[in-house]
Amino acid sequence: MTEGRTAPRVGLDAIETASRDELEALQLQRLKWSLAHAYANVAHYRAAFDAAGVHPADLRSLADLAAYPFLVKNDLREHYPFGLFAVPREKVVRIHASSGRTGKPTVVGYTRADIDTWAGLVARSIHAAGGRPGQIVHIAYGYGLFTGGLGAHYGAERLGLSVVPISGGQTEKQVQLIQDFRPDIIMVTPSYMLTIAEEFERQGLDCAASSLRTGIFGAEPWSDTLRKEIERRAGLDAVDIYGLSEVMGPGVASECVESKDGPVVWEDHFYAEIVDPATGAVLPDGEEGELVLTSLTKEALPVIRYRTRDRTRLLPPTSRGMRRLGRINGRTDDMLIIRGVNVFPSQIEELILKDGAFLPLYLLEVTREGHLDSMTVHVEWPATAASDGAARAAAANRLVKHIKGSVGISVRVVVGDPLTLDRSAGKARRVLDRRPR
Ligand code: DLL
Repeated sequence: MTEGRTAPRVGLDAIETASRDELEALQLQRLKWSLAHAYANVAHYRAAFDAAGVHPADLRSLADLAAYPFLVKNDLREHYPFGLFAVPREKVVRIHASSGRTGKPTVVGYTRADIDTWAGLVARSIHAAGGRPGQIVHIAYGYGLFTGGLGAHYGAERLGLSVVPISGGQTEKQVQLIQDFRPDIIMVTPSYMLTIAEEFERQGLDCAASSLRTGIFGAEPWSDTLRKEIERRAGLDAVDIYGLSEVMGPGVASECVESKDGPVVWEDHFYAEIVDPATGAVLPDGEEGELVLTSLTKEALPVIRYRTRDRTRLLPPTSRGMRRLGRINGRTDDMLIIRGVNVFPSQIEELILKDGAFLPLYLLEVTREGHLDSMTVHVEWPATAASDGAARAAAANRLVKHIKGSVGISVRVVVGDPLTLDRSAGKARRVLDRRPR
């Protein structure tokens, strides 16, 4: 099921602006293929469908998919490494893996056609961000088993860009190459973009005066407030790219620069549902819940109703004919329960950034004292601010009050000295949970 395009693309793919009817007809045809492919070639799907009393031939409409069983991350672990592949291993031309926090990595595979589709969708994503053939792109997502670097790379080449595959890390060198090669576009996690901007400043340079005009940021949650902060500091348009290795990698959904209103799900290749995380029931568009994705064209590793654990909403089409994702409000498994209150790191991030006194960096440390959970919010005082203890204490008190007022929990705020929090060169670590398991 390849798009079969090898020449650099220039405009939009026709399907991006097709009518809903046309798009849904294509989705239904591809969904039937994907279910049949998974059932015929993967023992796990066959057993799971049989146990649920469903067969691929039962699907008559897109909504019928709700009757089929979910796939969860643990299913990938149980079939480690190649047990969910739907093609002979020799047809798999690429393997990626995500390490996760515990246990075995999750392994994913791609046929040549899968790589081709992926490159096409990342090219489409870069185009939606404003990228055009002939420009230079600086790719600071990690290269390796992580899908970020190579996924961005193939898409950028497909679009006809000159690619600088620097990968993550070596922050001084990142700045040097941006200064010397004058890229138009940067692709990197939002947290590492901030580290790079900070390095510009450390060297007495102004990141906003660099050649960069577009940043394509993803791989971790980030808020609209952080978007504005990055746009101001780096002097570029910041757009959001979403994806996950199980479903492909970067480019499952991506934002259009003209509207910056949430990543457009590339619905010709993925069918999206939002479910109630507790009951698994499908929720109507607009309601927040867990994103569930089904691949429509993947050959090597078809995913049927994969529970992403990402909390978001499906929004109506705007700049393209396809639906959009709302901001990812963290993962269902990132949710902290502090004395009975559900807390998402993104809520705290929003308050830290809005305050304006701190650097856009934080670490939430959770501990258990006796039977009570408590949270310490570590933030950092900017080197440029006066090192006045009273101002720091006042800022800390303000943040304690805002968190109490809007999240509903009492926290301790520790305002660290400049350069005391870890800088990320990839996905930032926001939570340090020290509670006994
Ligand atoms: O992070 C793929 C990727 C690379 C996406 C580069 C975008 C850019 P994984 O390592 O498997 O794959 O992690 C996937 O990261 O389920 C989300 O929780 C989170 N995530 C990815 N993109 C976004 C985003 C890559 N734009 C997990 N906003 C996903 C919020 C994101 N969270």
